Amino acid sequence: MTDLHLWLRHEVRSTERRTPVVPDDARRLVRGGVRLTVEESPQRIFPAAEYEAVGARIVPAGSWESAPRDTVVLGLKELPDEPGELTHRHIFFGHAYKGQPGAADLLRRFAAGGGALLDLEYLVDDRGRRLAAFGFWAGYLGAALAVLRHRDRLTAPLRPTDKDALEAVLRPAPGEKEFTALVVGALGRSGRGARAALETAGVEPTCWDLAETRDLDRRALLDHDVLVNCVLATTPVPPFVREEDLDDPARRLRTLSDVTCDVGSPLNVLPVYDRTTEWTDPVRRLAKEPPLDLIAIDNLPSLLPRESSADFSRDLLPQLLDFAGAPWGRCQERFRLACRELGVDEEESGRV
Ligand SMILES: NC(=O)c1ccc[n+]([C@@H]2O[C@H](COP(=O)([O-])OP(=O)(O)OC[C@H]3O[C@@H](n4cnc5c(N)ncnc54)[C@H](O)[C@@H]3O)[C@@H](O)[C@H]2O)c1
Repeated sequence: MTDLHLWLRHEVRSTERRTPVVPDDARRLVRGGVRLTVEESPQRIFPAAEYEAVGARIVPAGSWESAPRDTVVLGLKELPDEPGELTHRHIFFGHAYKGQPGAADLLRRFAAGGGALLDLEYLVDDRGRRLAAFGFWAGYLGAALAVLRHRDRLTAPLRPTDKDALEAVLRPAPGEKEFTALVVGALGRSGRGARAALETAGVEPTCWDLAETRDLDRRALLDHDVLVNCVLATTPVPPFVREEDLDDPARRLRTLSDVTCDVGSPLNVLPVYDRTTEWTDPVRRLAKEPPLDLIAIDNLPSLLPRESSADFSRDLLPQLLDFAGAPWGRCQERFRLACRELGVDEEESGRV
């Protein structure tokens, strides 16, 4: 049994249809003794009624702010800008430990309120491997959008879909022009997803991982028509594409899909753009001659909300059922470290 009170919050971003817990797993949580509160959320792929049917209490969107202090608030993406002081423990992807824009402000909000960020990106086993991740679907979609763009078949705005419908448009039409594609970070979760989408699209990509970029052959990289970047950078490395490559008349690269989206971070391997692209306008032209198009969408798996939520929830469930387990302790430690690095008083930050 557990005394965990988990509060599944509404996502503020209107395109975010995913959820970290699907109704089937909500049932398992309730059966496992977790008190589950679920916020109404108009865009969530699963209606609140499906959570209610398995024993969750339903509350209005955004009401976590007034939840009892020992409640653990669960979400995926960013919190709203208010309140300024965060008093709860929050599980979500904070994107706050790599010097990203807004990172320090978020950590200060936690420190000010005595809450804590339990960042899903840092929920790892004792060998440092991520326990729940959306990577496969991110890579799948990053590559799928790149293919559709390259074949001039991408329509905006992007809309959530399902895998069968996406595969139908991905398959090559008879007589389709062939092109070359490079997946970097090919051995990781999103790399595998990217390779799967390219296979459906009838493209056999070049696959690079750490071994192939150690001594970066940028000329070979720029010699592909399409690049799908799927690396998870942990230390700074020479950029894969530089400003001067945009003007290089010998560049063959035409479509750049950045799944990693480390824009603004010192670890960014693609420092040739300064903001992500959006569902309304997924492609930005970075260079006119020769042309280079960028796709850099930071919530790709939300385009396949049902499939990606179900996979993520399946992996997160055992961790939620064991909230006293070591992985959450590691998350807490990582949060404390980030606060210390920022000079935030440790006493103020994190109560678990
Ligand atoms: N855009 C989105 O919607 C979205 C969604 C989920 C994840 N992501 C991001 O995608 C990235 C990858 O996630 P993942 O789950 O696939 O990670 P992962 O750890 O499973 O895989 C990353 C791969 O990158 C490789 N790598 C690291 N540095 C490299 C380098 N310098 N050169 C070549 N290969 C290198 C690693 O060896 C590994 O195989 C992360 O930054 C993650 O935050 C983006």
